[in-house]
Amino acid sequence: MRPMRSSNIALSLGIILGFASFSSAEVTVWYQQGQEPLASTTSSGSAAAYTGAAAYNPTVLTAPAPPNPAISTQFAIQLQNGGTPGVSIPQSGSFFGFSIEMSVVNQVLGKNSSFLQVPFLNLMANLQQRSGHVQIRVGGNTQETATLVDSIADGRILEKDIASASNPTLTPPLIFTRDLLYMLRNISSLVNVRWHLGIPFNDTSNLRLGIAEAGQAILGEYLIGLQAGNEPDLYAAHGHRPETYGPFDYFGEFGTLVTAMAADTNIPRQNLLIGPNLATGAWTPEQVWDTGFIDSYHDQLAFLAVEHYPTDNCAAQFNTGAAVHDPQATFPDFLNHTSGQLIVKPYLNSAGIAQQKGKQLMMFETNTASCGGFAGISDSFGAALWGLDYAMQMAYSNFSGALFHVGGQNVFYNPFTSPPTNQSTFRQWTVGPIYYSALVMAEALGASNNSQVLDLGANNQNIYTPAYAIYENSNPVRVLLMNYITDSSGANNITVSISIGGGQTGQANATPASVKVKYLLASSVSQKGNFTWAGQTFGTNFGSDGRLEGTEDIQTITCDQANNTCAIPVPAPGVALVFLNDDAQTETDGAPATTFPTTALTKTVNTVTIDPSILSTSNGHSGKSLQLGSTSKGSVSGAESLRNKLGGVALLAALVSGAMILGRGIAQ
Ligand SMILES: *[C@@H]1O[C@H](CO)[C@@H](O)[C@H](O)[C@H]1NC(C)=O
Ligand SMILES: *[C@@H]1O[C@H](CO)[C@@H](O)[C@H](O)[C@H]1NC(C)=O
Ligand SMILES: *[C@@H]1O[C@H](CO)[C@@H](O)[C@H](O)[C@H]1NC(C)=O
Ligand SMILES: *[C@@H]1O[C@H](CO)[C@@H](O)[C@H](O)[C@H]1NC(C)=O
Ligand SMILES: *[C@@H]1O[C@H](CO)[C@@H](O)[C@H](O)[C@H]1NC(C)=O
Ligand SMILES: *[C@@H]1O[C@H](CO)[C@@H](O)[C@H](O)[C@H]1NC(C)=O
Ligand SMILES: *[C@@H]1O[C@H](CO)[C@@H](O)[C@H](O)[C@H]1NC(C)=O
Ligand SMILES: *[C@@H]1O[C@H](CO)[C@@H](O)[C@H](O)[C@H]1NC(C)=O
Ligand SMILES: *[C@@H]1O[C@H](CO)[C@@H](O)[C@H](O)[C@H]1NC(C)=O
Ligand SMILES: *[C@@H]1O[C@H](CO)[C@@H](O)[C@H](O)[C@H]1NC(C)=O
Repeated sequence: MRPMRSSNIALSLGIILGFASFSSAEVTVWYQQGQEPLASTTSSGSAAAYTGAAAYNPTVLTAPAPPNPAISTQFAIQLQNGGTPGVSIPQSGSFFGFSIEMSVVNQVLGKNSSFLQVPFLNLMANLQQRSGHVQIRVGGNTQETATLVDSIADGRILEKDIASASNPTLTPPLIFTRDLLYMLRNISSLVNVRWHLGIPFNDTSNLRLGIAEAGQAILGEYLIGLQAGNEPDLYAAHGHRPETYGPFDYFGEFGTLVTAMAADTNIPRQNLLIGPNLATGAWTPEQVWDTGFIDSYHDQLAFLAVEHYPTDNCAAQFNTGAAVHDPQATFPDFLNHTSGQLIVKPYLNSAGIAQQKGKQLMMFETNTASCGGFAGISDSFGAALWGLDYAMQMAYSNFSGALFHVGGQNVFYNPFTSPPTNQSTFRQWTVGPIYYSALVMAEALGASNNSQVLDLGANNQNIYTPAYAIYENSNPVRVLLMNYITDSSGANNITVSISIGGGQTGQANATPASVKVKYLLASSVSQKGNFTWAGQTFGTNFGSDGRLEGTEDIQTITCDQANNTCAIPVPAPGVALVFLNDDAQTETDGAPATTFPTTALTKTVNTVTIDPSILSTSNGHSGKSLQLGSTSKGSVSGAESLRNKLGGVALLAALVSGAMILGRGIAQ
C-alpha cells in the first residue's frame, strides 16, 4: 500500500473505518497495490500522441482571432414592461434536458436500482433547485433493438451484444431488466427527474412493448413520453428498412403501434407517444405532417419531436468515407449566433404547426456533431456558449424542450461523464461545457413554467454579441448577454446599457436602482474545464462530485437612474445573466438546495466488508453529526432530509462508496 493525496474530499470516512489518516481538509487515501492511478490522462501529454478515451482528449484548439473590422463594444438594449411582441410561448425551466444513450445508463445513472451514482444525483439536484424539474430521455439508437428480459445471468441490469453492432455508430443490441426502470424510479424519488423512454422499432411486425408496460407500471407519472422510432428517416440508409421506406411507411408503422398499444391492457396511458423523431436527414418534418400524422394520432401524441446535430462527424470516428472535418477550421462555426439560428430555421414552420395543433415540439437529441462531436470544440468553453445560445434560440423559436445527448467514454460532447469503470475507484466525474449551458439556462428560465424568451437582435444583430430577454407576466425579469469573442487585451469586452420603460404608456422610466449579475467565464473559448458560473466550478477532468465548488460571486451593478440605464460589462469571452429585480433571481426557485454528499471514491478499500449493522449502531456517525454540506454558498445540505428518507445506513453507505446505495446492506 502507498498513500495517494486526494484533495477536495468532503469528509474522511477513513476516520470511521480506521484506515486512512486525516489532516484538516485533506484526506490521505490508501490504495491497494495495483489500484494506483496510472499516468493521468489529464497530465500534459501531447494531444497528437493521445490514445485514451475521447471524453478526456487533451486537444486544445486556437481561439479564433477577434473579428475585423472590430465590433461595436458599447450598445443599448431598451426593454419594456407590460407586453412585448414576438416573445416565445411560455417555457418551462426544464427546457434544457438530456438524452442518455440507453447503453450507458448503467455507467451514468447507477449500476442498479439500489446503487445510484451520487455525482449524477448532485448534477440533477443543481438543476432541480433552479427549475423545479429535469427531463431525461433514455434511448438513442440503442433503444431500437433493446429487449426487456426477466433477468441477466450476471445480475446486471443491462447487457450489450457488441459483436452484433450494426449501425454506423456501432450501437450494440441490448437486453435490460425491470431493475433498470426501478433505478429510474428510485432516482425520481430523490430528484425530480421525468423520463422519456423509447419503444423498440426495429421490427414493428413483432413489437416488443415490454418497456411501455413496465415503464408505466414502475415509473407512473414520472414517465412523460414514449418515443416511437428513432430517426426513421435514416432507417433505409442504415439498412434497417428497404430503400423505398418513406414517410407514409412510418405513418403506417406508427399506426400499427397505436393499435397494438390499444389492445394491450397493461398499457393504461395511451397518450404518451412521441414522433416522428426525424434526424432531418432524408426527410423534412413537413413530409411527415403531410401524411396527416398529427391529426391521425392526435390523441396518442404527447410530443412532436425532431433530432438534429448541426455537423456530421461520423467520418472521423467510423471512417464512413464522408468528408472529415478539421476541428480547428470548424471551430468558428460554433462561435457565433448564426449557428443556433441556422439549426432552428428548418423547424420554424413545424413549431408553428405544433402550436396550431396544440402540441409541443421537442428537439429530442442534439449536440455539437453526430458520432461524438469534435476534439477541442465539443469539450471547450466555446461549446458552453454555443449550447446556451442554441438552446435559448430554440426556446425563442417555440420549441418546448431540447435534450442534449450523453454518450459513453468515446465521445467528446458529454455534458457529464462518469469515470471509466475500471478507474472508478479513484476518479471522479468530468463535467463538460454543455452541463454549464444547462445550468445557466435553468437559471435564466427559472421555475415558473411561464417564462417567455425574446431574441433581442442586439448590437444591430451582431453575431458575436447575442442577447435574450426573459419575460414573466409581460415584464422583463432577466437578460442574458453573451460575448463569443476571445480577446485577453480587453479590447472586445462589451458594455451593454439596459433600460426599462414602464407601463402601457411607453417609455416611462422603470429602470431599477441596481441589478444583480452572474457571469459564466473562462479565459478563452478554447479553454477546457475550470469554467466558472458566478465564481464556482466543477473543475477539470475527473474533478467533480457534481457539486459546484468555490465561493459564489454575485455582482451588484448600480444603475444610472438619471440616465435610465444599467451598464453591464461582458468580458471577451463570457456570459452575463442579469436579474432585473430581486424576485427575478431563480437560483433556489425550483427546490431547496440539496446535495448528496460523497467522497471521491466508489470503492474505498476492496478488502473491507462493511457490516450495515455496525454502521447503523456506530455511535456519533449516524450521519447527523457528520460535517456534511454543500460547497456552494447559500445552500443547505441535503444530508438531513436524505437521511430521513433513506435512513443513516444508506447515507453512510453512500459516503463510503461514492454511490448512493439504497436499502440495506453493502458489501464492497
Ligand atoms: C447493485 O450493484 C452493486 C454494485 O455493483 C452490487 O454490489 C449490488 O449487489 C447490486 N444489487 C443488486 C440487487 O444486484
Ligand atoms: C429486432 O431486435 C431484436 C432484439 O435485438 C432481434 O431479436 C430481432 O431479430 C430484430 N428484428 C429485426 C427484424 O431486425
Ligand atoms: C428502489 O428500487 C427497489 C427495487 O429494486 C424498490 O424495492 C424500492 O422500493 C425502490 N426505492 C424507492 C425509494 O423507490
Ligand atoms: C458563424 O457560424 C455559421 C454557422 O455555423 C458559419 O457558417 C459562419 O461561417 C460563422 N461565421 C463566422 C464569421 O465565422
Ligand atoms: C412563437 O410563438 C409566438 C406565439 O404564437 C409568436 O408570437 C412568435 O412569433 C413565435 N416565434 C417565432 C420565432 O416564430
Ligand atoms: C482500463 O481499461 C482500459 C481499456 O480496457 C485499459 O486500456 C486501461 O489500461 C485500464 N486501466 C486500468 C487502470 O486498469
Ligand atoms: C411546472 O410544471 C411541472 C410539470 O408539469 C409541474 O410539476 C410544476 O408544478 C409546475 N410548476 C409551477 C410553478 O407551476
Ligand atoms: C475585460 O474583462 C476582464 C474580465 O472581467 C477584465 O479582467 C479586464 O480588465 C477587462 N478589460 C478591459 C480593458 O476592460
Ligand atoms: C484548474 O483550476 C485549478 C484550481 O485553480 C488549477 O490548479 C488547475 O491548474 C486548473 N487546470 C486547468 C487545466 O486549467
Ligand atoms: C446614457 O446612456 C447612454 C446609453 O443608453 C450612453 O450612451 C450615455 O453615455 C449615457 N450618459 C451618461 C451621462 O452616462
